[in-house]
Amino acid sequence: MLKASWVEPENNMGDVCPLFRKKFHINKSISSALLRVSARGVYEAVLNGRRVGCFVLAPGWTAYERRIQLQEYDITSLIEEDNTLTLLLAKGWYMGSIDTYTEDRLKGRSCAVIAELTLTYADGSVDIIGTDNTWQTSQSGLRFCDIYHGMIFDASFEADFCGNAVVSVNNGQDTLIPQQGPEIIENERLRPVEILHTPAGETVVDFGQNITGYPEISVTAELGDRIKLSFAEVLDSNGNFYNANYRTAKCLYEYICRDGQQIYRPSLTFYGFRYVRIDEFPVDIRPENIIAVVVHSELRQTGRITTSDPLLNKLFQNILWGQKGNYLDIPSDCPQRDERLGWTGDAQAFIRTACYNYDVRRFFTKWLSDMRVEQLKSGAIPDVIPAVFTGIHSPAWGDAVTICPWQLYMTYGDRSFLSFMFDSMKKWVDYITSVTKDKGLWTGGKTYGDWLELKAPKGHRKGYTRDELIATAFYAYSSELVCKAGRVLGIDISKYEELHSEIVARFKAVFEDDFRTQTEHILPLYFGLTDRPDRVAESLVAMIHADGDKLQTGFVGTPYLLHVLSNNGYSEIAYELLLRKDFPSWLYPVTKGATTMWEHWDGLKPNGEMWSAEMNSFNHYAYGAVGDWMYGVCAGINPVEQAPGFARVHFAPISTERIDFFRAELDTDHGKICSEWHHENGVTVYEITTPVPSTALIEGKNYELRAGVHRFENNKKVV
Ligand code: BGC
Repeated sequence: MLKASWVEPENNMGDVCPLFRKKFHINKSISSALLRVSARGVYEAVLNGRRVGCFVLAPGWTAYERRIQLQEYDITSLIEEDNTLTLLLAKGWYMGSIDTYTEDRLKGRSCAVIAELTLTYADGSVDIIGTDNTWQTSQSGLRFCDIYHGMIFDASFEADFCGNAVVSVNNGQDTLIPQQGPEIIENERLRPVEILHTPAGETVVDFGQNITGYPEISVTAELGDRIKLSFAEVLDSNGNFYNANYRTAKCLYEYICRDGQQIYRPSLTFYGFRYVRIDEFPVDIRPENIIAVVVHSELRQTGRITTSDPLLNKLFQNILWGQKGNYLDIPSDCPQRDERLGWTGDAQAFIRTACYNYDVRRFFTKWLSDMRVEQLKSGAIPDVIPAVFTGIHSPAWGDAVTICPWQLYMTYGDRSFLSFMFDSMKKWVDYITSVTKDKGLWTGGKTYGDWLELKAPKGHRKGYTRDELIATAFYAYSSELVCKAGRVLGIDISKYEELHSEIVARFKAVFEDDFRTQTEHILPLYFGLTDRPDRVAESLVAMIHADGDKLQTGFVGTPYLLHVLSNNGYSEIAYELLLRKDFPSWLYPVTKGATTMWEHWDGLKPNGEMWSAEMNSFNHYAYGAVGDWMYGVCAGINPVEQAPGFARVHFAPISTERIDFFRAELDTDHGKICSEWHHENGVTVYEITTPVPSTALIEGKNYELRAGVHRFENNKKVV
């Protein structure tokens, strides 16, 4: 419990961001200074002109009505004799225009900060300085700041601090929780790769990489000079700046200069961009005037893939960038347009790849904690977490509640993901049981279908895959995951075992032998809902051929497509799809210069046109889910259910003549795992490094492996 109060400026400042200030004098030797801060909004704390900590957009985004993270900074080294502590507050996700769907959530809200500084002196005495009505307030140079709409900063503005803070009406502290997720930080700085002059006569800086973050500008200017930038992810087919796909997100970047040399970067908003159009700038822009600062949650990279195929390598890099760009405190769908929401369906589709690429434990602990508190009484899971709206509770979206904890348990071997989420997992399954119109099936609900499936009725974003097939398949999968989790936790799950058997039986009775789309084949194969996997796989392959050897899947089918092919003896077809360069395919965007994953297989069409501006993100990680096939099948690095967290590994690499060399490595709590293969004089050589005793299945033969390095060729183990 803090002694401080939540405070706001006494006068409403409209769009202008308020500053709060406290001056204090120290006259004794100090042994420590600990600052705790949080905000309803986003804040930046500055002590004696120096930024406190490196958390950008603190306190992050949570289900604010229930949980707001409180940050702690050790600021001992920043303390002087005379001190000025200021807090700059912007609307952020709390009150900004983050939700275009409803204004309701803003009712009764106002932005506020809370801060408490604990000064411990060498003589053991303690002073506490907390936000209260003695703090001064002022308008700041940040004249406007919003997540979607960007910012306007006036560097010439002089704060006067003639106002006072008032204690918020809503002064409770029960929502404050210790910092739970990783901090959002500035991770990289990219220099321009080119300054372009487009056919339309515009000056556009190309950073060579689609990122999430903001530009830092550095310029010598005169008072009142203006800088105005615009953002885009792509150029159109004529090489012109194009950002109609940002929809209503204004993404303003307007800066009014003071006199002299100045460096500025925003810190209370962010943009998704590769290109920056220079609408106004005091000098002819040069590369040294602008840098792109990459911002995302602090994550340790754990997985790496390198191959002999440059396009595949680029795809892997794009998958990583897709994750970085969208793991900004929550797993978002995209970082640029007026959305940037924690869409559950996208998060579950990508989580396996995510867990290979980076250590996402803390990241998901926080997000799942929000999911837990946002789950509705009925057991329904809102479509986006934090739940700025609750949505339709679609299958494959709500199932994030079972799929994510299970994957985290498998990757990290930590049962607490399951124990923490078990009730929510059950409640979701019970919810389906309570709303379905047909026992053992999930019928009658609303769904997003196989979102963005390629073949779709005109004007529709859902393909032809039947709602009730998807819904029932995920109902089966979620109930199975409840059973698995219950077994790990030693909880009686007989009710869910019965339910699962019933759903499987009903699914088979209703759908077996009548699968009409690729995804309709994929789901029963992957979720074990068919008695005749051979026939279904054969029929899937026939359908892929009939579709011109092309995938047709959307968000729901795509993550499992290559798995069901390789699981059923069709790995060469899976490789063909993986390596295909023409639309539709994973490499098609790469051939078009993509640096992140696209929302649509044809975000930029072969004829140069854009998919409709109304929904066309070039940084949407969902189709990056193919990364887990690259780790798990190409390199064959798999966790084992009986010894999760890679305490044992099951290596099952499947090589192909289409690629000369493939290597993946993975840092685990047990050590580094590597798996690679290459072709040498007509034979494929596999090399596996395992830090733990493991099993391997290589070219049809099983091996027990000791910890160490192992080499296989000509169908035998040679080292
Ligand atoms: C988002 C998706 C999301 C979907 C729901 C879109 O607007 O960008 O990624 O899953 O809505 O179908």
